[in-house]
Amino acid sequence: MNQQLPLSTGHISYSLQGSGPVLLLVHGFAFDRTIWEGLLPELSAGYRVLCIDLPGFGDSTLDQPYSMDRLADVFNAVLVAEGIAECVLIGHSMGGYAALAFAARFPDKLRGIGLCHSHPFADSPAKKENRRRSGALIEKRGHERFVREMIPNLFADSFAKAHPGLIAQLTERALSFPAAAYTTGLEAMSRRPDRAALLAAFPQLPWLFIIGEADDFVPLDALKEAALIPDIASVVLLPSVGHMSMFEAPQQIGQRIKEFADLCYRYLPV
Ligand code: MLT
Repeated sequence: MNQQLPLSTGHISYSLQGSGPVLLLVHGFAFDRTIWEGLLPELSAGYRVLCIDLPGFGDSTLDQPYSMDRLADVFNAVLVAEGIAECVLIGHSMGGYAALAFAARFPDKLRGIGLCHSHPFADSPAKKENRRRSGALIEKRGHERFVREMIPNLFADSFAKAHPGLIAQLTERALSFPAAAYTTGLEAMSRRPDRAALLAAFPQLPWLFIIGEADDFVPLDALKEAALIPDIASVVLLPSVGHMSMFEAPQQIGQRIKEFADLCYRYLPV
């Protein structure tokens, strides 16, 4: 079911499917909630799956100022509007950065947290500079070139070559989002703080890490070490997968997210 939550500046779009305990899925930068569609039949069989369009992406309007904390507040506003007291929250990439902000702000509402091709570290100086340059170029010339270069690079090379139709479709969708979503998103990501301390902050909280071995968008070695920190963690290492396992290995991650949600809701004491 598609829903809208009005905000003072516009609205947030989201969908709810299935019944049971809540699994909140959040997409990353340049995408929208439709990236999760391939996983929904499996996940909604046991869970009420809430998929939010981040502000500026999908059918949600841009909401400024943009920050990971503000995104966490938006997630909370949707949960409150739906009368949802707690969730397992899985964030893809930038959605993972926002999930970490949610953990810092609303730890009591989390039964589990998953970082899907995401990580808790702040940007390196080189990454910040890259984002600044990309943002400046988008402001000057629009986001077309940026999007056309970025989308195929998110996938493992062999997958991108074998699936030109999917890449074209995701690129067209990404081009339909406003340029301002890209500039503000880049800026907000570069401002986000390091959240690695959270990994040890909640001894009862289960963590899921979905890691693609061919992902150029996360610091792989540091992330694999970080995944060892929480007391309760499920780590999914996907060989030959890039940044987009919901397309590159959908059955595998659908199954692992379901097992993780089972762990959080059914097997661990509250
Ligand atoms: C994303 O996929 O959400 C972003 O590319 C992540 C990033 O740039 O750090």
